[in-house]
Amino acid sequence: MQPRTQLSVVADLMPIASNAFLVALPFEPEPEPGQFVMLSFDDGRLDPFLPRPFSVFDWEEKMLTLLVKVVGRGTAIMGNLKQGATLRITGPLGNSFPDYEGRVVFVGGGIGIAPLYYAAKRSQAGCKSFILGFCTAEQSYLTEEFSQIAPTVLVSDDGSLGEKMFPHEKLDTLIAAGDRPDLIISCGPEPLMRATHEVAKRHGVRDIVSLEARMGCGIGACLGCRLDLPGGSVLVCKEGPVFEGSFFEEKK
Ligand SMILES: Cc1cc2nc3c(=O)[nH]c(=O)nc-3n(C[C@H](O)[C@H](O)[C@H](O)COP(=O)(O)OP(=O)(O)OC[C@H]3O[C@@H](n4cnc5c(N)ncnc54)[C@H](O)[C@@H]3O)c2cc1C
Ligand code: FES
Repeated sequence: MQPRTQLSVVADLMPIASNAFLVALPFEPEPEPGQFVMLSFDDGRLDPFLPRPFSVFDWEEKMLTLLVKVVGRGTAIMGNLKQGATLRITGPLGNSFPDYEGRVVFVGGGIGIAPLYYAAKRSQAGCKSFILGFCTAEQSYLTEEFSQIAPTVLVSDDGSLGEKMFPHEKLDTLIAAGDRPDLIISCGPEPLMRATHEVAKRHGVRDIVSLEARMGCGIGACLGCRLDLPGGSVLVCKEGPVFEGSFFEEKK
């Protein structure tokens, strides 16, 4: 499906934490799980000039929902938009998570949980579950919504939500206790995805990661999203954002 650029009017914007919100926008065509869109403002402003990438958090009845964490100028302006504001959206872009019929565990950290909701919701996996990690209970969000899609284990850095551990550590203990998935899909800070890959490798389980990079165009034209990983040099927008976890390793 060719990505296209369209104008879309904000249908809803809902804060879900002090620094995160959900934004709903009419959007077609139906995206695949793991894909992303490039968003920019349509009010003539030059700052921020470049569009910003966001994962598909959900898509239902032609309504796209994005989960956004405020980290800088663009996301702060977005968070202050009102219903009826117009945004420019290009997408859907990038590749998608593979579908899988076996046991799949989705491992997410912080805002990295964004692409996992739609991925699990759309997945045909016979058995699926989430392991989600946040810094603190106060900085967590949407845990109820995730648990309505699949059984959800929560962990936090300070122990205020679930056990005090990182998501990959929980994954490790669950697999060691016999709860072995056929596929692990992870998204979050790069150290979490690397550590998750190490756990997957140790237990002989395939893992898929969704990588992030600063993006200028989202369509392979500016080369701004090039990542040099041990497994090779990649353009995240064009060849990703979904990669085998083995990209974190040297090619043999
Ligand atoms: C494929 C993809 C999917 C993404 N999905 C989501 C999502 O679903 N929800 C969400 O909240 N964010 C997502 N992001 C990150 C989001 O694009 C950035 O947070 C956003 O562009 C920041 O814009 P800004 O103008 O607010 O920040 P800026 O003012 O541009 O930057 C503020 C700070 O954030 C850092 N930063 C900006 N972009 C990135 C990035 N891509 N990776 C790491 N650090 C960055 C900058 O280095 C700087 O420190 C995704 C990024 C990619 C590449
Ligand atoms: S963002 Fe321009 S090439 Fe990837």
